[in-house]
Amino acid sequence: MKLWSGRFGKDTDALVDEINASISFDQRLYREDIEGSLAHAAMLGAQGIISMEDVAAITAGLKEILADIEAGKVEFTTDNEDIHMNVESILTQRIGDAGKRLHTARSRNDQVAVDFRMYVRKEIPVIIDALLELEEVLCRQARQHQMAVMPGYTHLQRAQPISFAQHLLAYASMFRRDITRLEDCAKRLNECPLGSGALAGTTYPIDRWMTAKTLGFDAPMMNSLDGVSDRDYALELLSDLSILMMHLSRFAEEVILWCSWEFKFVELDDAYATGSSIMPQKKNADVAELVRGKTGRVYGDLMSLLTVMKGIPLAYNKDMQEDKEPVFDAIDTVEVCIPVFAAMIDTMRVLPENMRKAAGKGFINATDCADYLTKKGMPFRDAYTVTGRLVALCTAHGKMLEELTLEELKTASDLFEEDVYEALKLENCMLLRASYGASAVAETTRQIEAIEAFVEAHSV
Ligand code: ARG
Repeated sequence: MKLWSGRFGKDTDALVDEINASISFDQRLYREDIEGSLAHAAMLGAQGIISMEDVAAITAGLKEILADIEAGKVEFTTDNEDIHMNVESILTQRIGDAGKRLHTARSRNDQVAVDFRMYVRKEIPVIIDALLELEEVLCRQARQHQMAVMPGYTHLQRAQPISFAQHLLAYASMFRRDITRLEDCAKRLNECPLGSGALAGTTYPIDRWMTAKTLGFDAPMMNSLDGVSDRDYALELLSDLSILMMHLSRFAEEVILWCSWEFKFVELDDAYATGSSIMPQKKNADVAELVRGKTGRVYGDLMSLLTVMKGIPLAYNKDMQEDKEPVFDAIDTVEVCIPVFAAMIDTMRVLPENMRKAAGKGFINATDCADYLTKKGMPFRDAYTVTGRLVALCTAHGKMLEELTLEELKTASDLFEEDVYEALKLENCMLLRASYGASAVAETTRQIEAIEAFVEAHSV
């Protein structure tokens, strides 16, 4: 019999039970549900709304149920729809009338709102920890490759020389922002909806500050309708995770490129690559491809919840039960993706010789050639044109800029001297880019130290 069957003349159709029940997925909220109920019961007792004997019975009963769930001794039923009614009905079976008093001055609407919020709040540090480890891996790899010259790209065309460290540290900057975004989300979500009741609050003399404090919230939510209707925090989390996955996916795409024979900048450790069932030579970057692929599902989770929420009037509507699966899915996905990605980066073999070889072709020192002339007094726009002419000359003769003789260079401008060859050396081009945030060793060191300090300050 349904807990709410009082006003109904017959049982619900089996299909209705199937679409209505959420226990198959919301059972993962059991701990938060019990924690919320413990705080609610203690508050009801402290305010004299139920007796202290009832509070004691409820508290003991809930703790026992928690232990039994964790020991795998509890069977949930779809008859009881969701985790909230499952726990309440098990409690009542076990302790009788006291169990029936737990739901005084509460609705499942504020109950689910507080449970879900606490669940999201609990998972954020798990994700942040994984990101901090990824940051450590990036710092380690970057430290080893501050001198490794590689082509930096724009439009996937070789552009200017950078170090491999500089490239990795670009991602470290992105993940640092991702971490602070998640911290913002955790800060903003930390207000307690419990006590909003079904939507309008309650006539009982409840103490919302007490439950908020017990459950680790900064304050109760200000408006009861908003309390039960708000899923912004879940959307913020999904947005943050979507942006994070976008970063991981770009990185994944580059790893896939770098592993190809066309690049061969890195080689993945055998433990983080896969083979082909037909082509014996293949070593595929499946981990990176899966991370790129799973980015789509996290975006889907975000779109799904945004769409669920967009047309529903205040306050609670059953549509909102559809909030959980996308959030669980996104959390599960990133909690797999980040550590496996970090391990893949940590163990990959970097091949600086191949990066250097690639850097040697494509005239990536052309800007430096123009800068050389500019520093000798030629206006940059003219220097740019002169260098462009030299690139055309090189292309016609199958040469690189530094292979032109001084005589050939002087046909374009008599400002060229013997020292141009030093200026065109790729190592110099990379190492002399010493502006703030650039790829000179002092600058990559500064970035590494900043990320390491951030990791240190954010680790618990
Ligand atoms: N299982 C429901 C959910 O996840 C709990 C809230 C139900 N409230 C209601 N009035 N039907 O949203």
